[in-house]
Amino acid sequence: MRVRVGIVGCGVVGTGVVELLLKNSELIRERSGVDLELTRVADKDWQRPRSFYVPSDIRTTDYKEVLENSDIVVELVGGKGFAKQLIKEALEKGKHVVSANKHLLAEEGRELFELAQKKGLSIGFEASVGGGIPIIKAVKESLVGNRIRAIYGILNGTTNYILTRMLEEEVDFQSALSEAQEKGYAEADPSLDIDGWDTAHKIAILSYIAFGGFFDFSEVYVEGIRGVELLDIELGRELGYTLKLLAIAKRRDSELEVRVHPTFLPQEDPLAKVSDVYNAIMVEGDFVGKTMFYGKGAGSHPTASAVVSDIVDIARKIAFCKEAMPYSWGDRTLSISKNFYSRYYLRFDVPDKPGVLASIARVLADSNISIASVLQKEKVCSIAGREKEHIIPLVILTHKAYELDMKKALEGIKELPVVVGEPVLIRVEEEAE
Ligand SMILES: NC(=O)c1ccc[n+]([C@@H]2O[C@H](COP(=O)([O-])OP(=O)(O)OC[C@H]3O[C@@H](n4cnc5c(N)ncnc54)[C@H](OP(=O)(O)O)[C@@H]3O)[C@@H](O)[C@H]2O)c1
Repeated sequence: MRVRVGIVGCGVVGTGVVELLLKNSELIRERSGVDLELTRVADKDWQRPRSFYVPSDIRTTDYKEVLENSDIVVELVGGKGFAKQLIKEALEKGKHVVSANKHLLAEEGRELFELAQKKGLSIGFEASVGGGIPIIKAVKESLVGNRIRAIYGILNGTTNYILTRMLEEEVDFQSALSEAQEKGYAEADPSLDIDGWDTAHKIAILSYIAFGGFFDFSEVYVEGIRGVELLDIELGRELGYTLKLLAIAKRRDSELEVRVHPTFLPQEDPLAKVSDVYNAIMVEGDFVGKTMFYGKGAGSHPTASAVVSDIVDIARKIAFCKEAMPYSWGDRTLSISKNFYSRYYLRFDVPDKPGVLASIARVLADSNISIASVLQKEKVCSIAGREKEHIIPLVILTHKAYELDMKKALEGIKELPVVVGEPVLIRVEEEAE
């Protein structure tokens, strides 16, 4: 059976999808039994060179032509304004939708998914998380019998590349970012990636399906890697840890934690070994235990592979079930706890003299935080004006503690006259305890 597909937005991903659909249409037909016909591809500008030739008879600059000539509308424009309007219009016209737009789906997806459900239509969004890694389908379908306990991982290739360079080449953040930009791994304006928002969008989408409900995206704790210092990466290495920008969503008793921040992982943790632009996601279910998904999290071809898997899925349902059963979204609103429970790496710049550790330890103890280990370096910190005072980094690793207790303790420690500048806090994830 023939199913008509139209694309709006023919940039990096859109061009990849056109290429895949035109090159592998025969293979897709043999495997799935559906004949996908690419009817229209809309973009604002057809003068710009593309990595693959888009036949002129299917090109258009008018997205409405796509809506008129498709059973499945593929939104690959990005952003929230026009993309949202397009998806709503497509659903109102009775069209199924496929989108890779994590920004829109994480922040305003609820409204769109509810509209799709009301209309009995599907929105496919495999490509919105993990590029070519089939993580959405795995959580939605393959692990459907599991209560998901936790889902966490490295969801942004740009930041993972920067942290890998800092660790391996011992360069500072700015140099690693410049290298990523030269290689085309980071945008000219890299803030969505390095400030953690791209990762946060992806973990929000994963949480919606893993925990069966929605939450207000602005509740997610997001801290990027802009402030990461090489000194902490090196001190962490001495302690047996590797620093990653980790997205974490986990149940703790009746609470749900959803957060993104630089995180120390034990060097032997499989996620600590994921380097360069690769992504990896760990899912823990109550029956399956731990499963890990690894691959390229972005790029024209891997992302096109995910988009096409959604197209084929929906097309098969249209062809063989006569209607595509929409994914059943719960109408629950989930609430997120801000009082995380974690181990902490703390670095204080302090003078090398007796009593300093004791004064800090006292404040931590007063906030119910117990120390697991201490590392004190004889290296002098290069803090302007304080060189003569012999300022050294003092690192404390704590046992698991509550975030609110830790914040209170840090306020107290900052007041101590021996502590110079801002303390550094990095959360540590490990199995121990
Ligand atoms: N790139 C990746 O590796 C990747 C991976 C996973 C998910 N995604 C997601 O996939 C989506 C597309 O990303 P991309 O990298 O392909 O972006 P892109 O290269 O910027 O492509 C978007 C295309 O849509 C066009 N466009 C904008 N407004 C339009 C309109 N009103 N009508 C028709 N076309 C319009 C743009 O034209 P102009 O450039 O002229 O504005 C551009 O050609 C985004 O949601 C992104 O987050 C991308």
